[in-house]
Amino acid sequence: MRFVICGAGGLGSVIGGMLARAGENVTLVGRPRHMDAIKARGLRISGIYGDFQVRDNLTCVTHPDQADGAFDLMILLTKAKDTETALAEAASLKDRVSMVCSLQNGIGKEERLRQWAGHDKVIGASTIEGGVLLEPGHALAGLTTPTTAYFGELDGGITPRIEAVAAAFQNAGFGTRAVADIQQVLWEKLMQIGTASGWSVSTLGLPLTFPDGLEVRQGAINYVMLARDFLKVYKAMGYQPQNFYAPMGQFREFDRLPLDQAVDLMMDVGVRFRERARASGETEGRTSMHQDLHRGRRMEVDIILKPYLDKATELGIDVPVLQYVYGVAKVQDAFLSD
Ligand SMILES: NC(=O)c1ccc[n+]([C@@H]2O[C@H](COP(=O)([O-])OP(=O)(O)OC[C@H]3O[C@@H](n4cnc5c(N)ncnc54)[C@H](OP(=O)(O)O)[C@@H]3O)[C@@H](O)[C@H]2O)c1
Repeated sequence: MRFVICGAGGLGSVIGGMLARAGENVTLVGRPRHMDAIKARGLRISGIYGDFQVRDNLTCVTHPDQADGAFDLMILLTKAKDTETALAEAASLKDRVSMVCSLQNGIGKEERLRQWAGHDKVIGASTIEGGVLLEPGHALAGLTTPTTAYFGELDGGITPRIEAVAAAFQNAGFGTRAVADIQQVLWEKLMQIGTASGWSVSTLGLPLTFPDGLEVRQGAINYVMLARDFLKVYKAMGYQPQNFYAPMGQFREFDRLPLDQAVDLMMDVGVRFRERARASGETEGRTSMHQDLHRGRRMEVDIILKPYLDKATELGIDVPVLQYVYGVAKVQDAFLSD
């Protein structure tokens, strides 16, 4: 298949690089320094998949107008704040792409893509795969789960085009499933990333990593309490937790276990996380939002935490922990810059 990835930073480089390594034809649209470094030395991916350079099947451009030919799938992977600029710049791609999806975090991104590309071209997609741009030309693959990517038709169902995209991702080394209800995956993913990100920013602050925070019992208590606020809203929407991204965030267990046992479970997740990070030589152990805090850059607070707060208001549900965590994140975000 031919893929074009608009906004090839941390995650886009890992996904694009892995797809290209598996033989897919990939065009990355990214910033000049990163694109120039890849053109000069290839794309280095290190971390959980090993340490290797990708050169074949990879084209790097700095503007979508420079991308040649037609594409089966365009993947939008800028941060949310850059979506509008990226879509405006990609106008010339609109008629050259068969499908469009976003692997960004958040809810509502698909509606925006439908306005841009037309209703039928847009497919639903979600991933928990973790990627960080360490330096131009070098991305760290830091996190995956046994099933790390989901695709489905936005109005429900699985079609041959969904199966084809899922097969390409699977073949590239990402555990992938085609699902009939991608909307549920998107909401559960937001609960997952919202819990991990909100907890990181409020409980870890700057010095600590994910496993550090789970080593202290109070840290794991904070995690479960926040997860349970998200769960109240998710269940009121009519969903039951599925643990799409197990073993990260075990929402089924958080839902049914007494608090003490749920906290024990989360502390075990922290231990396994640290062991995995050590084995792969990876040290970051941070969510995308937490990385932004570290780098002094604006966080996706309203993208990642606000949709659940809005739903809670709409459904009349009290979510004091989520409300507090959102407040902490907003205060810190006010002092960061774009
Ligand atoms: N990283 C993860 O682990 C992860 C996991 C799951 C989901 N996500 C989601 O994926 C999205 C991307 O995250 P990320 O961590 O990969 O972000 P990132 O590292 O900042 O990558 C985005 C890249 O796009 C570039 N960019 C922005 N506007 C552009 C434009 N108009 N043309 C070309 N390049 C442009 C950015 O450059 P500048 O930096 O110069 O702006 C940056 O290099 C976010 O919505 C995030 O929540 C991330």
